[in-house]
Amino acid sequence: MNVMSPGKNTRAESYRRMEDGTKEEYLLLKELAKPFKAQTADRILAYLPNLAESFPGMAVDRYVHSLQTATQAHRAGESEEFVVAALIHDIGDLLCPDNHALMAAEMLKPYVSPEVYWMIVHHNLFQGYYFFHHYGKDRNMRDRFRGHPCYQMTADFCAKYDQTAFDPNMDTMPLSAFEPMVRRVFGREPWGPQTKTEQFPSGY
Ligand SMILES: [Fe+2]
Ligand SMILES: [Fe+2]
Repeated sequence: MNVMSPGKNTRAESYRRMEDGTKEEYLLLKELAKPFKAQTADRILAYLPNLAESFPGMAVDRYVHSLQTATQAHRAGESEEFVVAALIHDIGDLLCPDNHALMAAEMLKPYVSPEVYWMIVHHNLFQGYYFFHHYGKDRNMRDRFRGHPCYQMTADFCAKYDQTAFDPNMDTMPLSAFEPMVRRVFGREPWGPQTKTEQFPSGY
């Protein structure tokens, strides 16, 4: 796909195999990637409303559910990265419905603390406490993580914000209210200091 207008120094088009690319071409590609990567937040914000087409049958659709999860986290005073994680925690429901937690978690990973990453990775298992038994499964599967530094945080995320976000009558913040937060979090230096904390000194 030709996304750049033809001209000198706008495309690295000489190679057909990566091994044939020159250093100059790779440096050019790195420059071209910067404005593209800077639009990550825009793409996420544009995609989120599509979640309205996800799993049917509940009192609110997944898009409203996502806004309500983030609304409650924000009103409870959670950190900005926590609120953004709450907003996109189910973003995988459309394209990755049988492993959705990992999709959101991996999107967030370069930009947030390992604690928030861990929370989103495991949120579906912890959420199971509220319904797994109705399918004949163990609702206490989360117990295998008891003692983990992020256990309580993840249990609280589900208890207070996620499992409670299916209310058509909730005063729900619009996506526009979260836009600046999404831009700030996804505008962070990827794999920067935010990904290395005392509990997880080297990130992971
Ligand atoms: Fe989820
Ligand atoms: Fe959810």
